[in-house]
Amino acid sequence: MATTPATATTTREQPAPSSLARVRADVDRELSPVPVSPVIEARDLNVFYGDFHAVHDVNLAYGRNEITAMIGPSGCGKSTVLRCLNRMNDLVAGARVEGQVVYHGQDIYAKGVDPIAVRTHIGMVFQKPNPFPKSIYDNIAYGPRVTGMKVDSMDDLVEEALTRAALWDEVKDKLKQSAYGLSGGQQQRLCIARTIATRPDVILMDEPCASLDPIATSRVEDLMVELREDYTIVVVTHNMQQAARVSDRTAFFTARPDETTGNRTGLLVEYDLTSKIFSNPGDQRTEDYISGRFG
Ligand SMILES: Nc1ncnc2c1ncn2[C@@H]1O[C@H](COP(=O)(O)OP(=O)(O)OP(=O)(O)O)[C@@H](O)[C@H]1O
Ligand SMILES: [Mg+2]
Repeated sequence: MATTPATATTTREQPAPSSLARVRADVDRELSPVPVSPVIEARDLNVFYGDFHAVHDVNLAYGRNEITAMIGPSGCGKSTVLRCLNRMNDLVAGARVEGQVVYHGQDIYAKGVDPIAVRTHIGMVFQKPNPFPKSIYDNIAYGPRVTGMKVDSMDDLVEEALTRAALWDEVKDKLKQSAYGLSGGQQQRLCIARTIATRPDVILMDEPCASLDPIATSRVEDLMVELREDYTIVVVTHNMQQAARVSDRTAFFTARPDETTGNRTGLLVEYDLTSKIFSNPGDQRTEDYISGRFG
């Protein structure tokens, strides 16, 4: 990026490992009604794929050290909005983004901003674990190497990332083995470790547990809550229990058909504290969705 946010480049101190039980119990914490110091803000965000208006006028602030869940029926634009937050849509042919995504006060779509630099600050984890066809060690070391990160000891960095991703104990004796030999849940934690390795300050996750069993899902959820201490996390999920369990705030999206074309354009219906969204939503459409009457 043209100016590098100080928070993104500062070497993080390794916090004392906290027990997952303690972190999980910490989910219900006091939060202001709106994010006080948002790390990212989408402003009047509109996204088009060719002529198709996929997302309409989204305004959404993502709070620091918070987990924000984005939920809603299939096709309402959750992944599209998520990809806008680190310019991933640049890689989608025909995609066009209007509006602003302000990250630490700077519009990441402004002229001169390097999208690759953006993605090192705002990392992404995908639905399907996608380790590189490399060793466990090299999966982690790859990002720091290609981005030219100054690293005192790559071994230490690999260990730190795997520890933060709650995977170290399971892989420390087979770091040189292929990542493909890991289970799906381990591969997903490896992908989270890979994302952490370049020291982002935001982690975007698109249905990170969709291909995992309940035990692996629970581990990744615990991990998300633990990582929230140091990172800002945005997660897209179809799993309402997951949104309710891990997130601080929830954004509910839906899609509205255009009167003339019939095309369904996604929009943000409601954004609030997760506790409020799941107990007393302000919009009937949210109520219908979370109670299973729609979508
Ligand atoms: N690469 C693309 N080219 C054209 N249209 C696209 C592309 N990606 C998404 N769309 C369309 O944009 C709209 C929003 O899609 P998006 O994938 O963001 O929805 P979603 O809410 O993530 O859905 P799901 O829950 O099924 O993952 C949909 O109508 C989809 O068909
Ligand atoms: Mg999606």
